[in-house]
Amino acid sequence: MSRLNRRQFAAVATSAFAVAATPRHSFAQSPGPNDQIGVCVVGANGRGGEHIRGFNKDPRTFISAIVDVDHVVGQTRAKQIKELQGKAPEIFVDVREAIDSGKFDILSCATPNHWHALCGVWAMQAGKDVYIEKPISHNIHEGRTLIAAAEKYGRMFQTGTQCRSSTACSDAAKFIAEGGIGEVNFARGLCYKRRKSINPLGDYPIPKNVDFDLWSGPATFTDPKLTRSKLHYDWHWQRHYGNGDLGNQGPHQTDIARWGLGVNRHPESIVSYGCRLGYDVERKDPNYVDAGDTANTEVSIYDYGDKCLVFETRGLDVTESAGPEVDAMFGKGGGNKIGVIFYGSEGYVAQVSYGHCIVFDKDMKQTQEFKAKNDVGDAHFANFIDAVQSRDAATLNADALTGHLSAAVSHLGNISYYLGEDNKSSVDEIKKIVSNVKSLDDNIETLEQTVTHLESNGVDLNKTPLSMGPVLKFNPETEKFVDNSAADSLLTRNYREGFEVPTADKV
Ligand SMILES: NC(=O)c1ccc[n+]([C@@H]2O[C@H](COP(=O)([O-])OP(=O)(O)OC[C@H]3O[C@@H](n4cnc5c(N)ncnc54)[C@H](O)[C@@H]3O)[C@@H](O)[C@H]2O)c1
Repeated sequence: MSRLNRRQFAAVATSAFAVAATPRHSFAQSPGPNDQIGVCVVGANGRGGEHIRGFNKDPRTFISAIVDVDHVVGQTRAKQIKELQGKAPEIFVDVREAIDSGKFDILSCATPNHWHALCGVWAMQAGKDVYIEKPISHNIHEGRTLIAAAEKYGRMFQTGTQCRSSTACSDAAKFIAEGGIGEVNFARGLCYKRRKSINPLGDYPIPKNVDFDLWSGPATFTDPKLTRSKLHYDWHWQRHYGNGDLGNQGPHQTDIARWGLGVNRHPESIVSYGCRLGYDVERKDPNYVDAGDTANTEVSIYDYGDKCLVFETRGLDVTESAGPEVDAMFGKGGGNKIGVIFYGSEGYVAQVSYGHCIVFDKDMKQTQEFKAKNDVGDAHFANFIDAVQSRDAATLNADALTGHLSAAVSHLGNISYYLGEDNKSSVDEIKKIVSNVKSLDDNIETLEQTVTHLESNGVDLNKTPLSMGPVLKFNPETEKFVDNSAADSLLTRNYREGFEVPTADKV
C-alpha cells in the first residue's frame, strides 16, 4: 500500500497560518514599552537554564526572581545570574510566595509537566504574562483552563515550542501550504530517541535539599517514597508527573505536524499500541523491572477526518533500516531520528532538526532546503517579549491554543495506550485491529517495522508482548470521548487539595 495518499489540498493553505489569529485584549497592568521587564524563572534545573540564558541575553528583560523547590538548584542558579547581570535575583522555594512578592512581570515555567498549568493559572490570575514549557498541560482539562485564563486575564501566553519561531519551519510550512509538494494529508512524527532504563523501581531517599511536598504539588504526594533513583528529569517516564516521550519530545513534532497539515483542531479518532520494554535485555536480567511506567515504544494513529498523523516513539537503539522514507531523509543506520515527514502527492518535506527542513521529490531525491536564519530559541523568547510589550497576542508564535492542541495530541495517544495497557496482544492480533483503523498510513508496514526494531534490540515479543489500546472516538468540540467514561476520566486527574487546577469556567 502506498504511503502517498492524496486528498483535497484546499483547506491547508488557509488554515496553516491561522493559529494565533484569535482576537486579544490589551491591558493596563503591564510594563511600558521602555521599562526593563522582570522575569521569574520557575524550575531552574535543565531547561530553566535556557530560560535564564534567553531572558538574560535580551536587553529588554532581566531575571528578578527564581523559584526552585531544590534549594541547591535555586542557589546555584542565583549565583550564576548575579555573575551574568550583576544583580542577584530573589530566591523562592514556593511559587505562590514569589507571585505574592510582586517582584516580576513575566513568569517563565520550566518545572516538571504536572506543575505547568498551575504555575500558569496562578501567575495569570495575578496579572503576569507567562512562558510555559511544552507540554503546557499534564492532561487535556488543564490546557483548556490555560486558554481560558489567558483570555480572561488578558495575558500574553507563549508555549515553549520554539520551532514555531524557526524560520526553517515557517518557510517549510509556507512552502507546503502553497502546494510545494502537492496535496498533503498525511504526516509522520518521529521520536526515535534512545532512552536508557531509569534504574529499578524502588524506594529511594528524597534528597534533603528538595521540598518534595512542593515538588509533588498537584500529583499524589508519596512521601517518603521516591520510586525512581534520580529525582530530576527521570520523572518524564512516570505518568504521575510526565507524559512519556510522546509528551516530552513529542509536542515539538506534533506541533510542527499540525502546522504543516493545517489542522488547528483535535483529531476525531485515536489509537495507540506499544509498551515499555527491552530494559530486561539491556540489564541482562529477565526479572528486571524499570521504574518508569510510560511507554518507551509507542505508535499512535490520529484521524483528523481528511488528514492523518502517525507518531512513532522508539526509546531503544535504532540500528536497523527504519523504512525507505526515514532512511532517505534521516540517514540510514543507527542514532536518533527526530522530526516530521510530510507526504505530498508531488514529494516530501522532512523537518530534520529545529532549524533545518528538506524538500524531496517523489524519488526521495533532495531538491531544496530551508535553514533557519535565526537562533530558534532566542527568536522564540524575543517573539514573546515583543508581545509583552505590544500587548498584541495575535503576534505570538505559539499561544495557549497552539500549545493546548499540540499537547493534547500526546495526551490522547497516551490515553489509548493507558486504557489498553493490560490488553497484551500478539503481533497478529494487533495486525487484525490496525488493519481496520482508518488511516492514511500503511498501518501494517509501520507495525512490521516497529516489530523489526524491537527484535533487533533483542526483545522477545512472546515473552514481553505489546499492549493494544482501544480505538477512541473523540468529540473535538466538547473535548470529551464518545460514550467512553473510562477514557473521559483520564482527561483530568485527582488533584491534591490546595493544588487544584480549576475548570475553564471557574478560572
Ligand atoms: N523546549 C524545549 O526544548 C525543552 C527542552 C527540555 C525540557 N523542556 C521542558 O522543560 C521542563 C523541565 O524539564 P527539565 O529537563 O529541566 O526538568 P528537571 O527535572 O531537570 O528540572 C525541573 C526543575 O524544576 C524544579 N521544580 C519542581 N517543581 C517545582 C515547583 N513547584 N516550583 C519550582 N521549581 C520546581 C525541580 O526542582 C527542578 O530543579 C519540562 O516540562 C520539559 O518538557 C523543554
